[in-house]
Amino acid sequence: MRTQVGIIGAGPAGLVLAHLLRLRGIDSVVLERQTREHVERRVRAGVLEQGTVDLLTEVGVADRLHRERMVHHGIELLFEGEGHRIPLTELAGREITIYGQHELVKDLIGARLSAGAPLLFEVDNVSLNDLRSDAPSISFTCDGARHELRCDFVAGCDGFHGVSRPSIPDGALTFYEREYPYAWLGILAQAPPSSEELIYAYHERGFALHSMRSPEITRLYLQVRPDEPIADWPDDRIWAELRARLARRGGWQLADGPILEKGVTTMRSFVADPMRHGRLFLAGDAAHIVPPTGAKGLNLAVADVLVLAEALDAWYSTGRGELLDSYSETCLRRVWRVQHFSWWMTSMLHRADDSDPFTRELQLSQLRYVTSSRAAATSLAENYVGLPLPGRR
Ligand code: FAD
Ligand code: PHB
Repeated sequence: MRTQVGIIGAGPAGLVLAHLLRLRGIDSVVLERQTREHVERRVRAGVLEQGTVDLLTEVGVADRLHRERMVHHGIELLFEGEGHRIPLTELAGREITIYGQHELVKDLIGARLSAGAPLLFEVDNVSLNDLRSDAPSISFTCDGARHELRCDFVAGCDGFHGVSRPSIPDGALTFYEREYPYAWLGILAQAPPSSEELIYAYHERGFALHSMRSPEITRLYLQVRPDEPIADWPDDRIWAELRARLARRGGWQLADGPILEKGVTTMRSFVADPMRHGRLFLAGDAAHIVPPTGAKGLNLAVADVLVLAEALDAWYSTGRGELLDSYSETCLRRVWRVQHFSWWMTSMLHRADDSDPFTRELQLSQLRYVTSSRAAATSLAENYVGLPLPGRR
């Protein structure tokens, strides 16, 4: 088998890249380890930046997104029993969109398969070869047979636990990493949202987040310890804890309902530098992870692959490699801004078990400041709605 770009992973990064390349007349083959059903059901992100939505619209994969999404113009920060609205659109000129990542993945898979473009599910034993040569290849098993895909370039879009990054020899990349002493327990519930906008709550019992997917489905998160078994969290304990952490003076009702999905996500900040090794380009979670408090991971993955698609397009149409050479630097500039914002939101809103009184007072002071100073709120808003995509306004 031969193609121009071999793409490992059918998450948002791999699927958006494949789509952008196809529109530019560049062939690719997408290799995904999981089944189609699995990736179309995996519940993850929910917040899309306006820049992400604009790009998806421009490239023709946002029809259902526009029909079904929820548009928000603000978020709420809740602490000391009171909610404080950050008017995102008023302060930063952009809106945010609520649309489940797995719905976007479904739309992208649909677009790819209906165009008859290659996307293979359930591939196994993927290995990357000759990355530093002009003719790299990917070996993999599919339907019980071993295959080799020869290509000009390999895009490692296989997430944090994929094979691409570990295929790079030790010492070739620098890793920057921070782990946090907490995790998020996330649920999807058959219950109408209890607020029109997202609520980020700082509470002495720990962080909580009220989000949503539709007028019928709520998405809620609780800060838990990273080693906490999910079996310790029966449904009624989850609801009681959410009620305690989202409570406010003057009262507030949290609508509950059957829990459709439950899972624990660890929190990590991670950056690989450079995001390239020879003809292998890393994109999305394969190259960097942010804690979910800033709602940024998916948006960052889309920004990476836009830069990569444009660089590959320049290479194929002019033979010039400057944009490929600057790919990593261009992406990492945005990555580090987002890293800082995600770390900052995380540090402001979570309570470590051993949190000392000094740290708690600093957190409260920061929360009071961002909710009372227009300058500070604007800074939060500008980061939350997202910087313009590279080369756009
Ligand atoms: P992934 O989505 O991880 O896709 C990688 C793909 O590669 C997967 O399909 C995987 O099966 C496949 N793969 C892995 N290994 C192999 C292999 N060896 N061979 C072939 N295929 C392989 N981001 C936001 O922007 N907004 C949010 O609101 C938000 N909320 C989040 C909430 C939670 C609870 C979590 C966990 C994440 C959240 N994120 C959010 C982050 C976002 O989900 C990720 O950043 C995003 O999925 C990254 O996309 P990706 O394509 O790089 O990686
Ligand atoms: C979500 O709806 O899943 C969500 C929202 C905001 C975040 C993270 C996740 O910061």
